[in-house]
Formats: sequence, C-alpha cells, structure tokens
Amino acid sequence: MSTAISPTAYNYKVVRQFAIMTVVWGILGMGLGVFIASQMVWPELNFGLPWTSFGRLRPLHTNLVIFAFGGCALFATSYYVVQRTCQTRLISDSLAAFTFWGWQAVIVGAIITLPLGYTTTKEYAELEWPIAILLAIVWVTYGLVFFGTITKRKTKHIYVGNWFYGAFIVVTAMLHIVNHMSLPVSLFKSYSAYSGATDAMIQWWYGHNAVGFFLTTGFLGMMYYFVPKQAERPIYSYRLSIVHFWALITLYIWAGPHHLHYTALPDWAQSLGMAMSIILLAPSWGGMINGMMTLSGAWHKLRTDPILRFLVVSLAFYGMSTFEGPMMAIKTVNSLSHYTDWTIGHVHAGALGWVAMISIGAIYHMIPKLFGRAQMHSIGLINAHFWLATIGTVLYIASMWVNGITQGLMWRAINDDGTLTYSFVEALQASHPGFIVRALGGAFFASGMLLMAYNVYRTVRASDPVEAEAAAKIAVVGAH
Ligand code: HEM
Ligand code: HEM
Repeated sequence: MSTAISPTAYNYKVVRQFAIMTVVWGILGMGLGVFIASQMVWPELNFGLPWTSFGRLRPLHTNLVIFAFGGCALFATSYYVVQRTCQTRLISDSLAAFTFWGWQAVIVGAIITLPLGYTTTKEYAELEWPIAILLAIVWVTYGLVFFGTITKRKTKHIYVGNWFYGAFIVVTAMLHIVNHMSLPVSLFKSYSAYSGATDAMIQWWYGHNAVGFFLTTGFLGMMYYFVPKQAERPIYSYRLSIVHFWALITLYIWAGPHHLHYTALPDWAQSLGMAMSIILLAPSWGGMINGMMTLSGAWHKLRTDPILRFLVVSLAFYGMSTFEGPMMAIKTVNSLSHYTDWTIGHVHAGALGWVAMISIGAIYHMIPKLFGRAQMHSIGLINAHFWLATIGTVLYIASMWVNGITQGLMWRAINDDGTLTYSFVEALQASHPGFIVRALGGAFFASGMLLMAYNVYRTVRASDPVEAEAAAKIAVVGAH
C-alpha cells in the first residue's frame, strides 16, 4: 500500500516534528530549570566554571522553555489548527519545513552561544545579531505559511483560534525586529540602537508583550481550539471570544512600563502602564471564563479524562496569574514585590500552570491523531503526569510567595536610627528553605515530562504509517 502524501491530506509531518520537539525541549529546558534552582540551594553546582555558572545558564533556561518548548508547541498547534479549521493543507510544504529546521537552528545557536557568554544582555532577547536575523527570517516565513493557508481556506469564516494565533505571529515579529535594532561591532557583539531610558522602555515594551503575545495570545489560540475539542462542546460564547480578542490586544501593548516602576522612566508612562495593567484583568478573566464555561454540561468528563484536566487547570492558573499580575502592577505593591522571588513565583504560575499545562494537554490531544492511533498508550501515565505537574506548580509558586514577601519585608525593615534591620545575607539565609521547596517542585514537574516522553514514545512506536496517512485526510464533512 502506498504511503505517498496525497494533496488532499493535511501536512501532518511538520506538526509531528514540532510536537515531538516540544517534548524534547520541554525536558531539556525544565531539566535545566531544576539545575539552576538547585544551584540556588547548593552554590557548589556552579562548578567554578563560567559556562556552568547560574548567570549564563539562567538565560539558556528562559530561551529553552519559552522559545524552544513554548515555541515548538505554538508552531505544532497553530499548523494543526489552521489546517483543520480552514479545511485545507498548509500553503507550502517546503516553507513549513524551513520554519521547522530554521527554528531548531535558532535553538541550537542559543545552546552554543549563551553558555559561552555571548549576549545582548536584554532579557528574553539575549541572542546576538546573526541568530536574531535568522529568527526574524524564520518568523516572517511562519507568517507567510500561516496567513497564506488562511487565504486559501475552504471555510467561510476564520475560526477565532486563528485570530489569536495570527495576532501572536504579527506582534511577535514587530517586537523582535524593533527591539533588536542594533549596531554589530563584531560577529558576536552588537550595541542597541537605543540608549538610556528609551532603550529600557523599548526593551520592556518587548519584554511585556513577549509575555502578552508569545506566552498568552498564542496559547489562547490553543485554548480556543483544544478546550472545546477535548470537552466535545462548542465554545461557551463566540461573541465573548471576539470581545476578548480585541480588548486583549488593544490593552496589552500599553502595559510594559509596569516593569520599570520607580525608574528614570517618566512618571506618566509608569502610571499609564499601571492603569492599563489593571484594566487588563477584565479581558483576561473574560477569556478564562469563556474557556471554563465551555465545560458546562461536561464537567463529569474531568473524572475520567486527564487531558481535559490539564486544559482546565491551565485555565485556572491563567486566571490566577492574570489576577496577580495586575495587583503587582500597582506601584505600592510593586515596591514590595519587585526584585523579590514573588516575581519569580508569578512568572512560573503563568509559565508552568498556564503555558506548560495547556501545551501538554494539547500535545496529548494531538499525538494519537497525528500518528493514527485511537488514544495515547497509557491514560494512567497521563493522570500521573497531571498530578506531578499540579503538585510541582503549587510547590513552586507557594515557596516563591513566602520567599518573596519575606525578602521584601526584610529589605525594607528599618531600625529607629534609620539603619537597615537585616543584611542582604540574612534575607538570603531566610530564603534557603523556599529554594529547596522550589527545586523539589521543579523536580516533580520535570519528572512528569519524562513520563510524557515515555508515553509519547510508546504511542509513536505503535503507530501505523498507513493509518497515520489516512488520519491526515482532509475531512470535508464535520468541520474542524
Ligand atoms: C493581566 C495579566 C498580567 C499582568 C498585568 C502582569 C503584570 C506583571 C508585573 C507587574 C510584573 C512584575 C514586574 C516587575 O516588578 O519587574 C510581571 C512580571 C512577569 N510576568 Fe506578568 N502579568 C500578567 C500575566 C502574566 C502571564 C499570564 C505570564 C506568563 C505566562 C506572565 C509572565 C511574567 C514574566 C515572565 C514576568 C517577569 C519579567 C521579568 O522581570 O523578567 N505574566 N507581570
Ligand atoms: C521544572 C520547571 C522549572 C524550573 C525548576 C524553573 C526554574 C527557574 C529558576 C530557578 C529561575 C531563576 C529564578 C531566579 O533568577 O531567581 C527561572 C527563571 C525563569 N523561568 Fe523557569 N523553571 C521551570 C520552568 C519554566 C517554564 C516552563 C517556563 C516558561 C514557559 C519558565 C520561564 C522562566 C522565566 C521567564 C524566568 C525568568 C523570570 C524573571 O526574570 O523574572 N520556567 N526558572
């Protein structure tokens, strides 16, 4: 029997490649997270070498989890969703393949250059100019493939998930290109085109919208497809999803200055960032409620379906972190939380609870379909993974709340004569138990990823190429 690709089939090859690499990079990025968390507990793990020091491995962790793990999950799901909701094959197989290999090359570039100390020093935009240019080219190609596929859709309207993916692609390109404007002085050193407070403002306009569009809007695209699919219910309110979309993208772009409270940035800009962040609570919760309410009449499925549990709990963490964020954006609250582990806890409530959990749920949903199987090799293992991930996330964020508030209060405690009550080292010593609990929580989360890898491996190994090809046939009846 022939397994040649039929033109009436979806391009699942590139989706499979990105889906598998999501798991691979997830293990590496989170494993590295556990390693740097352990360095905070046992500083000897820095080994006295520059390449293995916390300062160089930390940006490698963020690049691996955000761009490698999160990025591959976004590529995989967006290519899957756009084809199925538009009932058409990707516009070009070769351009799609270029995005896969180009993206992996960017990641390998990060793995080599960051430990060697090559960095622009801008957070989440550390990659030096040759890699940043490659990233821009891959990203523009991604845009061409995605929007090109939308233009040749067989369906009349554009499903809301694609709006979210589309905004994430367009805004990420804009942020990356503007923030990376720089003057190269050698192969691996460049200087920013901006200076002083302007540079800081542009960097955090980028940084915050990397959160808003890369870590939020893209994953909301994922949410709008996989939650209704897994719950087998239509989205609760299509109208709310449209309001959610426009309100979210209109507000997010202004909130960046909340990263620069009490700095040389003009005061009005800080207040604007604070106000926009507080208003942002409304669309964020609108989206969360829309996702949650999609389960109306299907709540009982949570008892037997751990994939749905991943998706629903991710929405709960999304709601939690988008409540916490606006609170932290209030200047007086920020004066306590900034520089402390509270921020780190907030980051991982979003990163582990929301981004990672929704990605894991979506990958478990897709893998059997991509490889022509009825379901994953073991539902029990998915369940075990769910508990490891949930307990790991709770341990991580609870320990960081305790640490953050302890640090903030110890740093600001003042004696009657105006001197500081505690030295920095005393606050560090008080944080040590929290660092241990965080490392433990991270180890829980990362070991769940190992279960996932085994489960995915067994499912893929049992796959039949003929059935996998048949599964890729474009279903004309029974949209998406
Ligand atoms: C309405 C939504 C949100 C608002 C208003 C918000 C607000 C904030 C604020 C005020 C900070 C602290 C800034 C500082 O003191 O330096 C922060 C940090 C951060 N947030 Fe959020 N947040 C939101 C949602 C999220 C979500 C969902 C995620 C992740 C998926 C996330 C990821 C981050 C990251 C990575 C940082 C750390 C940035 C850094 O300093 O490196 N946020 N956020
Ligand atoms: C096993 C899971 C993980 C562990 C143990 C872990 C651990 C860590 C540690 C120790 C840091 C440095 C904190 C510090 O400087 O004090 C960090 C930073 C960070 N991690 Fe993770 N991480 C994990 C997963 C993730 C995931 C899945 C994401 C994103 C999707 C993520 C995003 C980040 C970000 C954005 C920062 C920088 C935060 C900031 O600058 O405010 N992490 N992580």
